[in-house]
Amino acid sequence: MQKDVSLKPFNTFGIDVKTDWLAKIESTEQLLTIIDDLPEMKKLILGQGSNVLFLNDFHGIVLLNEIKGKEIIDENENEIRIKINGGENWHELVMWSVEKNYGGIENLALIPGKVGTAPMQNIGAYGVEIKDVLEEVHTINMKTCEPKIFTNKDCNFGYRHSIFKLPENKGKYFISAVVLKLSKKNHQLKTDYGAIRKVLEEKKIQSPTIKNIAEAVMEIRRSKLPDPKLIGNAGSFFKNPIVDKIVFNKLISEYPKMPYYQIDDKYKIPAGWLIEQAGFKGKRFGDVGVHKNQALVIVNYGKATGMEIKNLADKIMNEVEKKFYIKLQPEVNYIE
Ligand code: FAD
Ligand code: EPU
Repeated sequence: MQKDVSLKPFNTFGIDVKTDWLAKIESTEQLLTIIDDLPEMKKLILGQGSNVLFLNDFHGIVLLNEIKGKEIIDENENEIRIKINGGENWHELVMWSVEKNYGGIENLALIPGKVGTAPMQNIGAYGVEIKDVLEEVHTINMKTCEPKIFTNKDCNFGYRHSIFKLPENKGKYFISAVVLKLSKKNHQLKTDYGAIRKVLEEKKIQSPTIKNIAEAVMEIRRSKLPDPKLIGNAGSFFKNPIVDKIVFNKLISEYPKMPYYQIDDKYKIPAGWLIEQAGFKGKRFGDVGVHKNQALVIVNYGKATGMEIKNLADKIMNEVEKKFYIKLQPEVNYIE
């Protein structure tokens, strides 16, 4: 355990706050000891810090998930089930799967973060979500130390949602491992996302492999999203709002060029478009700004504080609500 540590290297926004204590958790035994020894201390589980915004110094203990390792549970000629510990890096897992020709997560290449965090908001990109391949989430109760396994159904996954995001479950479970089921042949490739198809066509790839898809996704992502190593950010700051037909009809009649995706009887509107229309794209206010290529990404140009970023997020929410009558919801987790 280290005392009075800067969290700047541990969050992709690069916010320079301190934590009273920091511990690297390399095994579940180590976690159980900390829970036993420090029952009253405030605790924060942290993966790679790529979806958090620290508003203040943290008075408690930050637990960095470093529980590594993966094992094959079983396999047949078509499928393989793998248990992966939560401290593994998500993108490295995707690259490993692609090399082994295990299909199912290739569209989720280059998403920052740890494997243990992936079920939290049901990470998703380019037509795939982790729920599509997830069988189990293994957890440890942060108060009672009891282990509990959640099935895919138990997790109640939705767009950027799982039961682990509910207020009553905040900080309750430490996700120690996940079990994924991946394909070994006849991969169900997801190339519907317009941009993927375009990249494959440009490269004249007619029968793509999972590796081709992972590479196309990486190319698209690199062209749009800022690299947190170069400029602080946490990916999409807000979720894309989902509206009903009445609201949608009103908006589309006023803004016929508005992009949207229909999901059953609802409509998902890209928050990036709403924010761009509200005039924020590429704008900079001191060390805080809205990315020039993707209006959904708020960036830290250097020494921004968490409060400054939150203030810009609030301003964006107000302006979007005034213009479109839509209340954006942050995707990023605020840490008090
Ligand atoms: P952290 O930021 O460390 O934690 C996030 C939250 O989960 C916190 O509340 C934390 O307390 C909690 N938590 C962390 N680990 C555990 C655990 N083991 N058990 C219980 N609770 C835990 N997301 C997408 O879905 N799709 C994208 O395409 C995408 N693109 C991104 C691009 C960039 C450039 C960036 C910076 C982020 C992007 N994100 C995306 C968001 C982010 O990558 C994901 O949310 C990722 O899963 C966060 O992982 P992490 O380990 O960094 O989580
Ligand atoms: N758009 C604009 N202006 C912008 C940005 C976007 O008009 O500045 C419009 C464009 O019409 C574009 C559409 O919005 O076609 C969608 O943009 P994009 O394809 O970049 O995707 P997104 O909806 O902004 C979502 C996820 C990303 C994920 C991508 C790809 C959310 C909140 N974000 O972004 O996830 O990588 O789709 O699937 O759902 C994240 O969660 O951190 C994240 C990066």
